[in-house]
Amino acid sequence: MQPIQLAVVVGSVRAGRVGPIVAEWVRGIAAERNTLEVVEVDLAEFELPNTLIPSDETERFTRAIGACDAFVFVTPEYNHGVPGSLKTALDTVKYEWRAKPVGFVSYGGLGGGVRATEQLRQITAELHMVSVRDSVSLHRVRKRFDSAGGIDDAAAVDALGRLLDQIEWWADAVTGARQRAEYPG
Ligand SMILES: Cc1cc2nc3c(=O)[nH]c(=O)nc-3n(C[C@H](O)[C@H](O)[C@H](O)COP(=O)(O)O)c2cc1C
Repeated sequence: MQPIQLAVVVGSVRAGRVGPIVAEWVRGIAAERNTLEVVEVDLAEFELPNTLIPSDETERFTRAIGACDAFVFVTPEYNHGVPGSLKTALDTVKYEWRAKPVGFVSYGGLGGGVRATEQLRQITAELHMVSVRDSVSLHRVRKRFDSAGGIDDAAAVDALGRLLDQIEWWADAVTGARQRAEYPG
């Protein structure tokens, strides 16, 4: 079987953001599985306008999403919601998200970003994505990682394992299904 192309999407673009540290941890664990080929999609590396006007850059982003079979969104919570950068990215692409699984790794203060994750469940359902049940939430995120990027949260490591198991299962199911018949979206 071909490895699943899994994109770890870094959802924050803020100067001084924590997102890449969290994404690096996700990437490292996912890359231990030979069933997955992990790529990074860092939203800070794309100029995606919130006017949603198509451009070479939105095309480049659309192609990057189209090349992937599955996604893990690494998202902070801003004012009890999804960061604007991630919402714009979701709104920029239409068909290339469809019939593909997505899992959520959120982080924030005491709430661990769970409100952003629950909003993402609504948004990704509208985009015809399949969101997996298990998610990861890292509360007080700045205290979770040591200087080498190691994490002090065994429950989060377990949760990420379950999330990736479910991503693999769904990616296997829907990749075959997409090849057999056009998705009726
Ligand atoms: C504009 C803004 C709003 C925030 N709102 C929340 C919030 O509602 N809940 C929360 O847990 N943390 C909140 N935080 C804290 C962030 O989760 C924390 O700063 C995190 O590191 C942000 O992710 P980033 O560093 O990748 O941008 C907020 C931070 C910012 C900058």
